[in-house]
Amino acid sequence: MTMPHDHCGAGPAIVFLHGFPFSRLMWREQIEFLNGHGYRVIAPDLRGLGENVAQTSVCDSSSSSDHRLESVPLATMETMARDVAALMDELKIDSAVICGLSMGCYVAFELIHNFPSRVNALILCGPRAQGSDEAEKASREAQAQRVLHEGMGFAVESISKNLLAAATVRDKPDVGARVTEMVLQTDPVGAAAAQRGMAARRDYSNDLPNIKVPTLIVAGGEDGVRTPADAEFIERRIKGSQLLVIDDAGHLMNMEQVEVFNETLLTFLKSVSEARP
Ligand code: MLT
Repeated sequence: MTMPHDHCGAGPAIVFLHGFPFSRLMWREQIEFLNGHGYRVIAPDLRGLGENVAQTSVCDSSSSSDHRLESVPLATMETMARDVAALMDELKIDSAVICGLSMGCYVAFELIHNFPSRVNALILCGPRAQGSDEAEKASREAQAQRVLHEGMGFAVESISKNLLAAATVRDKPDVGARVTEMVLQTDPVGAAAAQRGMAARRDYSNDLPNIKVPTLIVAGGEDGVRTPADAEFIERRIKGSQLLVIDDAGHLMNMEQVEVFNETLLTFLKSVSEARP
């Protein structure tokens, strides 16, 4: 089954993997920019999120929330990565640069672990490598229960507060409005499935020294959920990787500081093309 996705342009391929609880809409400015610079850009909605609800929408909305949670199919990071590899097959893309943000980085780690030959280079935005501890698992389970019970509305305030830099909230209300819209458009069942998938994710720390492709790590200087220290942890373990911390940016740095993010991306992509035979 084809995942809902954007696909445009010709040239070297780059696949964008969005964060949670968002969709491919978060990459709008990068899709336009790289398409204009001669890249082939692909941005899917990951399983359960955005318009990709078909594989997780099995819940009976009349059931109690506990029962509904039991019937939510788990959307693991590995399954999401396999979906992306299948999409690349459909589009006849042997390999690509993979750019993930946060949850999208978990999926990128699974992709390079399971399909190393399909990844030319990695761009990891707001990443974290460590697995979830008991407290994180419990918190994700509570969030999953709540979203099934109440819908996505309760998440809007905490997401805007924790995920965006103060300057973004103050000066760029359009970014906050887009984030709110994406959150509210998210299917609660898909969100619960992805929360449980993130709770069940592997610890990727030991994978990092095995990553041999060019890697750019991007952190938001004011990211309240994935700190620059999380990014430095990864930088120390991937040989030759580069880290950029963007000022006045939070977790959604590609939407908050579009120009600096896009220019960084382009410089990195050019260096990858030049390094390839
Ligand atoms: C994201 O942006 O994808 C989330 O912050 C990921 C998470 O909840 O770990």
